[in-house]
Amino acid sequence: MKKKVGFIGWRGMVGSVLMDRMKREKDFNNIDSIFFSTSQIGLKSPNFSSVNTLQDAYDIDILRSMDVIVSCQGGEYTSKVYYKLRDTAWNGYWIDAASTLRMINESVIVLDPINLHVINSALENNVKTFVGGNCTVSLMLMAIGGLFSHNLIKWILFSTYQAASGAGSKHIIELLQQMGYLYNSISIDLKNPISSSILDIERKISFSIKDNSFPKKNFLAPLAGNVLPWIDLESDNFQTKEEWKVQAEANKILNTNNIIPIDGTCVRVGTIRCHSQSFVIKLKKDISYDSIIHIIKNNNPWVRIIPNDYQSTINFLTPIAISGTLDIAVGRIRQLTHLGSEFLSVFTVGDQLLWGAAEPLRRVLKILINR
Ligand code: HSE
Repeated sequence: MKKKVGFIGWRGMVGSVLMDRMKREKDFNNIDSIFFSTSQIGLKSPNFSSVNTLQDAYDIDILRSMDVIVSCQGGEYTSKVYYKLRDTAWNGYWIDAASTLRMINESVIVLDPINLHVINSALENNVKTFVGGNCTVSLMLMAIGGLFSHNLIKWILFSTYQAASGAGSKHIIELLQQMGYLYNSISIDLKNPISSSILDIERKISFSIKDNSFPKKNFLAPLAGNVLPWIDLESDNFQTKEEWKVQAEANKILNTNNIIPIDGTCVRVGTIRCHSQSFVIKLKKDISYDSIIHIIKNNNPWVRIIPNDYQSTINFLTPIAISGTLDIAVGRIRQLTHLGSEFLSVFTVGDQLLWGAAEPLRRVLKILINR
């Protein structure tokens, strides 16, 4: 009998990417899918659904009848519903994109190309709660998973270049509005750039970015023409929560015995949906450059090693090149010989909505329904 899988938050940005991937991989053929809503109960479900109308996402009785629940609805929904449901002794699988349950003992953070062994042993131990990791963490592990699996990493220092999509769909719209606002303020000058002084154009841009009407309701600051070196709330030790998550979640995903130290600065930049990251990695030993490339490349089928030259880098190691694909570009790989050959520098780019959010959920759902 097919498993009954309930979807919540399937029309949001991550949910929509998940739906697209599941349709493309024909995953819906293998499940009975039931679609829930928090606001449009009773309206028509997608045509491939097993039930014609959208079900109430707060109706615990209907939720209880699911074998698996997949939520991309966000942390607030998870907090309201998850424990209520578990309190009824519901023993189904809960798969979640939100961070709420990531660090609780009863959950596993899923990224099966990296931690299938952890997922499998959790399933044997009757774990029922599976949560997608933070996008920068998942994308980091997909990129340099080989160095982790070969136990080569002493510590990592990172800088991230995180896209607007990580903050949400409204933020992408706002970034584009900001770009449009700036363009409109100088579009006449750009039509005749020879007669316009670049310093005049720059001055107009700097003025308009400070206009009261400049759109920044969501980011609370300009992102177009700017970078914002702060993501999420304040945490301890002068870190942001986003920075805190990297070491905490990566070590939980890998189920390490000894914590691998990972720290750095998370920065929002004006890209749309791909997160980039720069790493300085202290290796445990000095190994050859060719071995490093071999280890990184062979960790999983999605890694694309980008040759360390100008043309390859600007064509293939960028958010524009990777956007909408499952590729994980890994480039600028070099040993920092001025510091010592056990110091390695790597730059990576991955799609924040695919490997950073929807894909690990789709894949763990497949693992669960095939059991
Ligand atoms: N917190 C991430 C960001 C995305 O703001 O980019 C979610 O994993």
